[in-house]
Order: sequence, then C-alpha cells, then structure tokens
Amino acid sequence: MNEFLRQLPKVELHLHIEGSLEPELMFALAARNGIDLPYASVEEAKAAYDFEDLQGFLNLYYQGMNVLRTEQDFYDLAMDYFKRARSEGVLHIDMHFDPQAHLQRGVPLEVVMAGLLRAKDEAEASIDLTVGMIMAFLRDRPAEEALHVLEQAAPYWKFLDAIGLDSAERDNPPAKFQKLFVRAKKLGLVRVAHAGEEGPAEYITEALDLLDVQRIDHGVRCLESDEVVKRLRDHQTVLTVCPLSNVSLKVVDQLSDHPLPQLLSEGLKVTISSDDPAYFGGGLLENHIACAQAFGWEADTFRLLNQHAIEEAFVSEGRRQELF
Ligand code: ADE
Ligand code: ZN
Repeated sequence: MNEFLRQLPKVELHLHIEGSLEPELMFALAARNGIDLPYASVEEAKAAYDFEDLQGFLNLYYQGMNVLRTEQDFYDLAMDYFKRARSEGVLHIDMHFDPQAHLQRGVPLEVVMAGLLRAKDEAEASIDLTVGMIMAFLRDRPAEEALHVLEQAAPYWKFLDAIGLDSAERDNPPAKFQKLFVRAKKLGLVRVAHAGEEGPAEYITEALDLLDVQRIDHGVRCLESDEVVKRLRDHQTVLTVCPLSNVSLKVVDQLSDHPLPQLLSEGLKVTISSDDPAYFGGGLLENHIACAQAFGWEADTFRLLNQHAIEEAFVSEGRRQELF
C-alpha cells in the first residue's frame, strides 16, 4: 500500500509554505542571517513541537519563520518543500503564504513575492510540479491591516489564484473580514477560508454567506450541524482536511477518532492535505500512509480523494487533464 500511495499522482490543496520550514533549514538560514534560535539543536526544536492547540502551534510557527529574511530564503524554503513533495509523487500544490507575518517583521512584500514566485516558476519549468498561490490574511490581526496589505499587493494580483484566511480561529469569525473578501471578489480573485478547524460550524456558514468562499479549509466541525453538512453536500463544496494536523493540534485525540470516514460517507467533497508538514509529522504522502493505517482505506478511496483535489486545484484546464 505504501508504494501504491507513493506512486499515486497526488494534489495538495492546503499547504502553508512557512509551515514547511524543516528545523534543518531553519538552522541553516539562522546561521546564514546571523540569527539566534531558541533551540540548541535540530533535535531540541523537534522536541518542542508538541502542541496543546492551534495557538500553541502558531506561537512556534511565527517564531520559526523569523529566519526568513531575504528573497533567497523564501526561494530556498519553497524549493526545499517542492522537491521533497515531488519526490513523494505530488504533482500540484496550492500554497498559502502569510505576507502580514513577514511585513510585521520588516520584510518587504517584494522580497516574499520574488522568492516564492521564482521557486514556483522553477518548479513548473524543471520538476513537473505546478503551484497555486493563495495570499492568506491573518484573522487575529485587524481587518483594516488586511485591506491595506491587499491594496499594497496590487502589482501581484495577477499572480494570485486566491486569497485565504488563516491563523487563530477562535473569536475571529469570518464576518470580521467581509469587507476584505468583497474587495477581493471585485478584483476577480477567488476566495478560500479556514473554517471549522477549532471554530464552530457556524463559522463555515459565515464563510460561505459573507465571504463567498469557494473552498473551506479544514471544515471538520461541519459535523456538528446537519444543516451545514447538507449545504456542503448539496453544493459539493470542497473541504481541505488535514488529518495529521488535526491530531497534532488536538482537534481529535488520535487519527482513528478522526471524522474523515464520516465526512466521506456523508457524501462531502473531501480532500487531504498536510497543512504545516514540518510541524505535524510529515507531508502529503505521510498523511496518506497514516490514513491507510488508521482507516484501512483501499486504493479507490485515495484515488477518489485525489480526483476531488484535481477537480478543485487552481490549475489551467490543460494541466488539469494531465493530472487526471
Ligand atoms: N496557519 C498555519 N497553519 C494554520 C492552521 N492549521 N490553522 C490556521 N492557521 C494556520
Ligand atoms: Zn491551514
């Protein structure tokens, strides 16, 4: 089964590129940029990746990305993950990135975009991996700041496939970002949002009603509302579910308790992704292998999940046909 899963052409719709920063690269970039890390070794960093909840993870995630300073750093970050993913049979990645987390530290948007776009171009030209760009906004920061950053990003709108909404979900409902998402829609940008990860099922409804999103990232808590499940099923709205992430952040106690089998049996358009592979125990292949072990799924289930992902990926129609 593991070899089948490695060979299976896979598509990942939910990946935070800053969450792919492996401790080894973090140490290399810290040395290159003369930055002190709060860990004495790679092993110590890995041992610290033991989270109580989403906020506990986010604290280390924002701290870890402090080593990213130059265009080359962003390029190295992305290429490191792209090459690893490609070697594990991934053919397309829709990549979230968090400009506010870098702007706050004094890293200009131009530096972030130049590094990530160079890596995307190189991956597409040389390793047969296509990359979608999702500019994500931090829901625990002010809505006005997000609007300002979206306007500041005007030179890059043409490179964006979508905008997203991430970071601490609790007490930061989608409604807070309605203006941002209305503006993005006017600009012709597709919209996605994290909802129903730690937040309630109502946040999924809000994201659909007020933000007019095309995808729900995570969405596992939809099962708390029959009405929300019905709506997601009727519209076949894609859910980008991240099994190992949900275990690491204690959304579920263990993978065998995960509601993925129920989401599928409800007829929902489910996909699987790694979210933040450097922090949650592995990339897309590891997530596939863990699901095979926990749920006893056969090849057909994994083919279906990847078919869903291919149908929804931010790719040209020509590339989509290649992926099928
Ligand atoms: N940013 C990076 N990973 C995230 C997650 N799992 N949820 C919300 N925001 C995030
Ligand atoms: Zn995420």
